[in-house]
Amino acid sequence: MRWKITRGGGKKSHLARAVGLHQWKESDGICHIIDATGGSGEDAFWLASMGAKITLLERVPAIHQALQSALEEAAQSDLAAIAARITLRHADSAAWLAANPSQHCHAITIDPMFPDHENRRAAPKKTMQELRHYAGNNDDADALLQAALNHPAKRVIVKRPRHAEALAALPPHHSISGKANRFDVYLPLLLNN
Ligand SMILES: C[S@@+](CC[C@H](N)C(=O)[O-])C[C@H]1O[C@@H](n2cnc3c(N)ncnc32)[C@H](O)[C@@H]1O
Repeated sequence: MRWKITRGGGKKSHLARAVGLHQWKESDGICHIIDATGGSGEDAFWLASMGAKITLLERVPAIHQALQSALEEAAQSDLAAIAARITLRHADSAAWLAANPSQHCHAITIDPMFPDHENRRAAPKKTMQELRHYAGNNDDADALLQAALNHPAKRVIVKRPRHAEALAALPPHHSISGKANRFDVYLPLLLNN
């Protein structure tokens, strides 16, 4: 992450563009993002390195504990300013979003474990194998998307394998595709009107 952050150019990344951070101006204030699928915390750290404030949610105790330790370590290092922008919570995100409807945020990001068969062509990274060991397959990801769409965030972003079906078979407003992955962008205000 340190290498990725110091190399710069983060706002041109697919994730930053999907969230809308590439157009974010200082006069817009602080961009608050809820990362509903904590995992290794890489995406959260990447977005926080661009100035966003992150609420990071993770439900698996062992993964939450690892995130907590990593954040404490980062807080004692040259990455302290980035770590300080991340607030970690141990929670199931669907329940947390339903219980916190007034938590103001610009975007919610969702990156469920890809089902095993959707990942067959590429060997999963070691981190992802470890996450799968603890987190399983995240078969309830459709319900998490629904909970996010019911929350008053302006955008909901879902990371998918490039050729996979949309979550909950719900077509996004637009997608940003890379070589292996795709970011589906939903605009709940348009869906609910
Ligand atoms: C593929 S990983 C996310 C990877 C992450 N984007 C990163 O940068 O490392 C999925 C993670 O989301 C967590 N997760 C899935 N559904 C969740 C839910 N409803 N609430 C909280 N955490 C959830 C899993 O436990 C797992 O740790």
